[in-house]
Amino acid sequence: MRVITEKEAVELLKKYSTNDESFNKVLNHSKAVQKLALEIAEEVKKNHDVNIDLVKIGSLLHDIGRFKCYKKNSIRHGLVGGEILKKEGLEKHARIAETHIGVGITKEDIEKQKLNLPLKDFVPEITEEKIIAYADNLIFGKKRGTIKKVIERFRNELEESYVERVKNLHNEIEKLRGRNSFL
Ligand SMILES: [Fe+2]
Repeated sequence: MRVITEKEAVELLKKYSTNDESFNKVLNHSKAVQKLALEIAEEVKKNHDVNIDLVKIGSLLHDIGRFKCYKKNSIRHGLVGGEILKKEGLEKHARIAETHIGVGITKEDIEKQKLNLPLKDFVPEITEEKIIAYADNLIFGKKRGTIKKVIERFRNELEESYVERVKNLHNEIEKLRGRNSFL
């Protein structure tokens, strides 16, 4: 795995950004996601294997695809970010970008909702991917929200089975953190 510093990660964001405004917006959001993801990862680390460096750099880079997706909230920014990061030799970080949309997008979701994505699973699998997807949902812009607010958001946008998956990821993270606010 290629290892890069936080400074290099920010430089990568800058390299792919299109203007200062979008760069600052993505950077501020990503830093807020990073802070929360690292808090979670440090708790998880007490009882489980977790690569803190991957969480630290992956959270900074998870939205790098946004610069190339002009449509607001395009679900393709995960895939596009993954392509950028693979090109940069950052395979594990690419997986984080690809799988961070909501609690992941399955092949079935793509078929059912006729999403503009290749027909395969984009679902967080390793702990680091799960932590970043989860933390990203909890950060609205650059502010932290509650899991209740996250659920409300998904309930307005998607069907109940997706809300169940949101709850499942929350429960899984709670368990990894050694906590028990299950939904
Ligand atoms: Fe994103």
